[in-house]
Amino acid sequence: MTPRAEAELSALNPLRALWLTLAAAFLLSLLLQLLPPGLLPGCAIFQDLIRYGKTKFGGPPRPAACRAFDVPKRYFSHFYIISVLWNGFLLWCLIQSLFLEAPFPSWLHGLLRILRAAQFQGGELALSTFLVLVFLWLHSVRRLFECLYVSVFSSVMIHIVQYCFGLVYYVLVGLTVLSQVPMDGRNGVVIHCNHRIPFGDWFEYVSSPNYLAELMIYISMAVTFGFHNLTWWLVVTYVFFSQALSAFLSHQFYKGKFVSYPKHRKAFLPFLF
Ligand SMILES: NC(=O)c1ccc[n+]([C@@H]2O[C@H](COP(=O)([O-])OP(=O)(O)OC[C@H]3O[C@@H](n4cnc5c(N)ncnc54)[C@H](OP(=O)(O)O)[C@@H]3O)[C@@H](O)[C@H]2O)c1
Repeated sequence: MTPRAEAELSALNPLRALWLTLAAAFLLSLLLQLLPPGLLPGCAIFQDLIRYGKTKFGGPPRPAACRAFDVPKRYFSHFYIISVLWNGFLLWCLIQSLFLEAPFPSWLHGLLRILRAAQFQGGELALSTFLVLVFLWLHSVRRLFECLYVSVFSSVMIHIVQYCFGLVYYVLVGLTVLSQVPMDGRNGVVIHCNHRIPFGDWFEYVSSPNYLAELMIYISMAVTFGFHNLTWWLVVTYVFFSQALSAFLSHQFYKGKFVSYPKHRKAFLPFLF
């Protein structure tokens, strides 16, 4: 690899800065939550911004002003509708470019330039990008199906800021993937909508195996990129801390709600955390 290509690989471009900032913000939030309760910042807005769904019940009392910004958590499906459409579009552009040598639309090309897409050469990276974008699209389709036909959402809420973040999140993830290409069952019976202690499989080891699985999905994409893609590792770092924070809050919620909650069960990483 030439020195120029090496410099490109380690440079801090806008996308890397974004993922690094998000990872740092979620690491800080997680560390603050790990403080003893007396030292924890009591700021209602901060707690409202890091908690969503059932974990809002585990936080401090919520002033009416906070509740004014609530959006139903079932709107999660909107994130995946956007992701299926947007990342499907990006996949279509990439397929056209890779197999028919058609250029990206000029606005998309310009956007990727602003975000400083990788400039180095390499046919394998184009294939990796294609595979990761296919995975991301399939993942979004699966998640949308899960939201529409499997998950049974109770009346829990998310903050409007979290909702807006969710709307742009998969747009950014798709652009991050594309920027790596070289240039130049809801059929069961619902018994109730209460939150119970889940048991079985990975739930025996951690409170939120779904968040752990999310991390593993992003790590598998890093493997597809060949392990040494710094930008993607920053995405993974963000996912790690955001999912660790959610898992930690869920874990606290369960421990606060159920005296019989299994003592050996960890929050996020089996046997560790
Ligand atoms: N990549 C990212 O940045 C990111 C960010 C957020 C989420 N995600 C992913 O999105 C997926 C869904 O996240 P989530 O936070 O909505 O997961 P979740 O809180 O576990 O909720 C998933 C479903 O299970 C229900 N549920 C949760 N705990 C329950 C309990 N103890 N008893 C009965 N039902 C329960 C929820 O109902 P209620 O909604 O009524 O609680 C919802 O229908 C996860 O796989 C997560 O990794 C990814």
